[in-house]
Amino acid sequence: SAMKITLNVNGEARSLDVDPRVALLDALRTHLDLTGSKKGCDHGQCGACTVLVNGRRINSCLTLAVMHEGDEITTIEGLGEPGSLSPLQKSFVKHDGYQCGYCTPGQIMSAKGMIAEFNMGWPSNVTDDLGTAPDFTEAEIKERMSGNLCRCSAYPGICHAIREAAP
Ligand code: FES
Repeated sequence: SAMKITLNVNGEARSLDVDPRVALLDALRTHLDLTGSKKGCDHGQCGACTVLVNGRRINSCLTLAVMHEGDEITTIEGLGEPGSLSPLQKSFVKHDGYQCGYCTPGQIMSAKGMIAEFNMGWPSNVTDDLGTAPDFTEAEIKERMSGNLCRCSAYPGICHAIREAAP
């Protein structure tokens, strides 16, 4: 049976009745009409559904809506101001960081989360052979964006866009 929950999405409290088995992605898209977050694989493999939860990037297809009562959720709809794109979005436009655009909301939300991780210091458990250089090198971006796939292979543009928007 449905549960009544309140999600804080893009700074707004949104109440919804949702089956406890519904993924956060489906709650956003179907219950709240926020269709910017995309469903590619529904299995945590493509990153098209990436949103921020309390500032951290997450595959929203892999988590249940009912687990996020009280969390701050940011979707692509929450970036920029009405009528104006955020700097990161503008950079994707400028550098052609997409072709068909289906993966773009997830790419941008993931990049935003990555920049936030950079500002907090790269997490040491994902440095691997890349070392700990606190820098937006191409290798760092490729490794840290590897959860976001682009079937059109617009990766060079995506990398340029992120590098230019990086702090
Ligand atoms: Fe969530 Fe592909 S739809 S990772």
